[in-house]
Amino acid sequence: MRPHIPALDTAAMPWAERNKGIYSKMLSQDPETGARTALQRLVPEAGYTPPTVAHFHHADEEILVVKGLLSFDSRDWLGPRGYVFHPAETVHGFKSAVPEESWFISRVSKELDFNYVPEPPQTTYYSAYNRPPKREISVVKQAVDAGGWVDERDGYGGRGWTRQLVLGRNSQTGEGSHFIRLLPGWEMPKGDFVHDVYNESFVLEGEVQLADGTLRKTGSYSFIPPGIAQPSARSPKGALLYVNVGGPLDFRSVS
Ligand SMILES: [Fe+2]
Repeated sequence: MRPHIPALDTAAMPWAERNKGIYSKMLSQDPETGARTALQRLVPEAGYTPPTVAHFHHADEEILVVKGLLSFDSRDWLGPRGYVFHPAETVHGFKSAVPEESWFISRVSKELDFNYVPEPPQTTYYSAYNRPPKREISVVKQAVDAGGWVDERDGYGGRGWTRQLVLGRNSQTGEGSHFIRLLPGWEMPKGDFVHDVYNESFVLEGEVQLADGTLRKTGSYSFIPPGIAQPSARSPKGALLYVNVGGPLDFRSVS
């Protein structure tokens, strides 16, 4: 399991240059499995060129675009808030393109290996070993404008309106990714609470105030392992969160 990260101000972190035109901020890592979440920045003007050969990984790979524009096949384009989940063994990257500086959150389920497929038999997603994935492929090109948003009163453990969109989910375990929009005035009941599954979140817009005085502004990241007590939260001005959870999310009061 990854360590507890109550709130990380990613805007204040320096970029580490990984390769020509590729910069990265490591947000959290599981030392045992190599699973990690990172903020990545690709800059064509600084020499970044996308891979030209299709490939697959033995890790699940999930991408959420923060800004810019990118594609794995030059047909489907992911703009800001675009999302893709490539299950392990999915061949992708048939004609990758990054025409402008692009930032995205990258989540992988274990150490990322690269297996190249120079002459793929098709140029749409397929399984390298011809077997169904544990969790379905998911592509949400313009998630903010996409259908499927659900308005929920008193959602996400609070009082007040939320709007939620499932981006991708394992139907067996409930592990998956969501957009959760907290409408202005959303507020949790006072007192600490715990989840029985991990909760990883990134503030994409707006801000969230925690009862311990922490202000989670745009760019704030957190990873809460199961069973860790957390302060309650509120969002007077509203916020948009990118949330990944280990299963169905419950809120249990501990005070
Ligand atoms: Fe990849």
